[in-house]
Amino acid sequence: MSGKPLLVTCGLPYTNGPCHIGHLRTYVPADFYVRYMRRSGEEVAFICGSDNHGTPIVISAEQEGSTPRALSERYHEHFYDTFRRMDVVFDHFGMTDDSMNHETTRSVVQRLIDNGYVYEKTVSQSYCPQCERFLPDRYVEGVCPHCGAIARGDECDQGCGQHLEPGELRDAVCKICGSKAEYRKQEHYFFRLSAFRDFLLDYLPTLRGTATARNYALGWVKDGLRDWCITRTLDWGVKFPGRDDLVVYVWVDAPIGYISFTKEWANAVGVDWKDYWCGDTTRVTHFIGGDIIYHHCIFWPALLKGAGYGLPHAVVASGMVTIDGKKFSKSRGYVVWTNDDYLDQGLPADYLRYYLLSYTSHTKELDFSWKVYAERVNNEIVGTLGNFIYRTMYFAEKEFSGVPDVAPQPGIIEEIERSLAAIDARMRDYDFKGAVDGMMSLASFGNAYIQNNAPWKLIKEDQAAAKQVIADCLQMVKALTVVFQPLMPGSMQRAWTMLGYDDDLAAHPIAEATAPIGARALGKPVPLFKKIEKEQVEALEKVMEARVAKAGEAAGAKAPTVSIDEFSKLDIRIARVVAAEPIDGSKKLYKLILDVGGEKRQVVSGIAQFYTPEDLVGREVAVVVNLAPAKIFGVESRGMILAAGDEASLLVPLRPVSPGTKVR
Ligand code: 2FM
Ligand code: ZN
Repeated sequence: MSGKPLLVTCGLPYTNGPCHIGHLRTYVPADFYVRYMRRSGEEVAFICGSDNHGTPIVISAEQEGSTPRALSERYHEHFYDTFRRMDVVFDHFGMTDDSMNHETTRSVVQRLIDNGYVYEKTVSQSYCPQCERFLPDRYVEGVCPHCGAIARGDECDQGCGQHLEPGELRDAVCKICGSKAEYRKQEHYFFRLSAFRDFLLDYLPTLRGTATARNYALGWVKDGLRDWCITRTLDWGVKFPGRDDLVVYVWVDAPIGYISFTKEWANAVGVDWKDYWCGDTTRVTHFIGGDIIYHHCIFWPALLKGAGYGLPHAVVASGMVTIDGKKFSKSRGYVVWTNDDYLDQGLPADYLRYYLLSYTSHTKELDFSWKVYAERVNNEIVGTLGNFIYRTMYFAEKEFSGVPDVAPQPGIIEEIERSLAAIDARMRDYDFKGAVDGMMSLASFGNAYIQNNAPWKLIKEDQAAAKQVIADCLQMVKALTVVFQPLMPGSMQRAWTMLGYDDDLAAHPIAEATAPIGARALGKPVPLFKKIEKEQVEALEKVMEARVAKAGEAAGAKAPTVSIDEFSKLDIRIARVVAAEPIDGSKKLYKLILDVGGEKRQVVSGIAQFYTPEDLVGREVAVVVNLAPAKIFGVESRGMILAAGDEASLLVPLRPVSPGTKVR
């Protein structure tokens, strides 16, 4: 244990949609970590809340004829309840729209102003003449100036992923009414992020957490930092100090929510919030999704530094979630809703907690499928862990009416101690999968031990030897119950009761695992877990399939009809790929040289994740040749190759045609 208390936070969910498996990928590991650290003797505050500001929430409220506050309160309750159902239990769950956060945000921004980190600048803001309003962030859609993808006002979410400043989007269109946006000059306030380059280059190598967060952030800082516009023309949000017509950008008041919620909690329990957030060292540990590393590792530490607060100790960033191998997408139906699809189907929180933490390492992409879910539940939770616990307790109860009065052998205690040490090292390294694998290995060891020693046979020849085996196994059952508790708190409390204890397992330290179980009566042994049957998997898969099909139909119905004249404006040709090479600094893009029938053309294409250059050279592809030229990652692109689906399946001619042939 080190001197300062640990503060663990999770990225705050926006209050404009329900909880899904993508959220859980951050919250469940954080809860697991908090439970484990507490039981290892650490003092931990676990703080979160809902993110209420920003344009998506205003738009959703407008669409349902409600107010952003009412919508936020509803979803705030929803998240709070859903997290509890998943056994994710925060010490405090606040709202960024509550007065504490308004006050704290204004005081932080005022400090930044006083310290010279905020300046005023006139920018061109998109404005809708039809709706008569400025169009911040998601009120506007257009073309990304960096990569040419369709992007929203503050982020190129479907293309290069870059953060966009107000006014940068090209060909902007109002998202509310579809009118072409105009650009109007407006005074805004900027945060001097660029002034923090040297500071971040020193700080980031010391940041603990996942290497992904640290390394991505360092790379971005080295590429160069741009100042951030931190005001928006909106009514909903925290007013910028001294300006009633502007609110601060949601990405300013959201992370400040971490501080405000700590204050609310600290005031309620009578501790000092400054112990968590001030001084040269803190133990603030942020659990976040991999898509908001920039905000937490670059923008947020710079903001804290500029305002004179302590700096985060660790950022733990999770990988993304895919569903059945497809990109997670609510609109296309590739989603698992925590309540409707999971908990309301009677499926246990513990099974999903196990899946999320054991499937792959925390930083990698996690694929969810009902088939794999059922396999892992049936083979690992039921087949290994549950089976060992049940067969041991059943035999002990039947033959010895409880735990026999025999001490476990020293070798068994040593085995448990070895497991605990390995698990502890993994947990402190934020390697949650490694830790869970370590736990499951102990269960496998137990299963092999009981199988090899076969006490059900031994008892017929040597009662004492059988007693020893069962005493050893019961000690391992106790250890497993203790060590699995942070991962599967509900099931392990039931196991604890079955072991004859009548108190709260969470109150015992992990070290309890090696304390001798001692002679005691057991509760009636019943299987802790239940298999997922094939029929249930099929039913769950059907729900997903139906949703994907419905989303597909809706998307098809939405596409506007075009006349043949409009279609014939597109000049699509067959071209042969002559050369393909990666573009420096981009994982997604290739520079291609195409032979378009006597003419060579350079085209930039985002297919690098799916093809090697060798896959492409010599291939015939379809290309739109009369697209306006664009610069993508600084490389000129004169055309666009056509591809279908998430994995960019290229459209190629079925029969040979010569390069330059027109597609009609
Ligand atoms: O990306 C999101 O969902 C944001 N609502 C996360 C905010 S985290 C923090 F900075 F407040
Ligand atoms: Zn882009």
